[in-house]
Amino acid sequence: MTAATPPMIKAAAVNKFFGDLHVLKDINMEVPRGQVVVVLGPSGSGKSTLCRAINRLEPIDSGDIEVDGQPLPAEGKALAALRADVGMVFQQFNLFAHKTILDNVTLGPVKVRKVSGEEARTTAMELLERVGITNQAEKYPAQLSGGQQQRAAIARALAMQPKVMLFDEPTSALDPEMVQEVLDTMTGLAKDGMTMLVVTHEMGFARKAAHRVMFMSDGEIVEDSTPSEFFTAPKSDRAKDFLGKILTH
Ligand SMILES: Nc1ncnc2c1ncn2[C@@H]1O[C@H](COP(=O)(O)OP(=O)(O)OP(=O)(O)O)[C@@H](O)[C@H]1O
Ligand SMILES: [Mg+2]
Repeated sequence: MTAATPPMIKAAAVNKFFGDLHVLKDINMEVPRGQVVVVLGPSGSGKSTLCRAINRLEPIDSGDIEVDGQPLPAEGKALAALRADVGMVFQQFNLFAHKTILDNVTLGPVKVRKVSGEEARTTAMELLERVGITNQAEKYPAQLSGGQQQRAAIARALAMQPKVMLFDEPTSALDPEMVQEVLDTMTGLAKDGMTMLVVTHEMGFARKAAHRVMFMSDGEIVEDSTPSEFFTAPKSDRAKDFLGKILTH
């Protein structure tokens, strides 16, 4: 095994515009296999757009993005396969409201991965156990708390056996008492070696679970360092200003 393994995510000279608004400005970054990278930055800095570009929910205007050494496919079956490899968890849980939690978790593997129903159910129950909600399997999303729904959404993403997980503010819509259970689930995933790109304002998670912190401002990656470097000695005025604001409220 001397051949270098490619990074799990690689973005090179990525630019993205919404009309005249330049939202991703020459983004260059890598997420190596097994790393947890937390993306921080003020509202509107491009964090969600970067996440969405990585599984091609947003097309980019120039540059290259690779996942596990493969350029992002533009469409069709290859794009569906990419989406299956890149799990995504959003602020809003996006569970199918008219399906049980168990059905939510088995649907993708059966439809996309062509796994048998029985195997999908076995795996789903293991995943629901991992996220701590086996007793919710037969319920519908509206019957669960926000924290339980978000853990179900994480189980659903994991059921596809993704190579990498993207989280976009997964705890921002939760009542405060439910934030920790979701962060604990994510910390468990990180410990198990999952490659993760996590947009969050949870500084405790960033300090504890992240290998790296990327700070974005105005569509640029302004800093990319270890959490301890970033939190104790931010280099740029923009990062200092951001930290000053979030750490004082
Ligand atoms: N579909 C869209 N059409 C036009 N402009 C958009 C669209 N999506 C995002 N933008 C703009 O692009 C910029 C970056 O948005 P993005 O959602 O990536 O920011 P963010 O860092 O995730 O912010 P937040 O912390 O508020 O979630 C913002 O100025 C936003 O208004
Ligand atoms: Mg966002």
